[in-house]
Amino acid sequence: DAVLVLHGPNLNLLGTREPEIYGRTTLASIHKAMEARARSFGVRLESFQSNHEGELIDRVQSAREQGVRFIIINPAGYTHTSVALRDALAAVAIPFIEVHLSNVHGREEFRRHSYFSDIAVGVVSGLGAQGYELALEAALARLRAI
Ligand code: DQA
Repeated sequence: DAVLVLHGPNLNLLGTREPEIYGRTTLASIHKAMEARARSFGVRLESFQSNHEGELIDRVQSAREQGVRFIIINPAGYTHTSVALRDALAAVAIPFIEVHLSNVHGREEFRRHSYFSDIAVGVVSGLGAQGYELALEAALARLRAI
């Protein structure tokens, strides 16, 4: 069993990218904390970041055959644009939680619409890096219940 964490464009810059909005925690340290927590639960955690829409879609498509049971995804800018990435998640039918570091409802109007939220199990937005840990707890609880 595995949980897959997907990060969209520009999230490789976390730590230095607009830190007043996205915080100073790096993607590497987010991954480290999640990995340790998942391991203690006996679940494999994989993370993948890409600045390319097609690469994210390929990773979603291959998730099922790789034993991924749950996805945590921050689609970043693709949240507001990508029908194709949404379609990929719907196609594999793996449950997922949508995470945003910032509160997308307190920013520009264009960030309020997500192509993912209506088919997500749930959405975490505005809680910074902690949002990933909370999403992981929810994912692990659901895996335990299965
Ligand atoms: C984001 C919010 C998006 O609107 C933005 O394009 C991002 C990051 C967040 O984590 O707050 O790149 O998904």
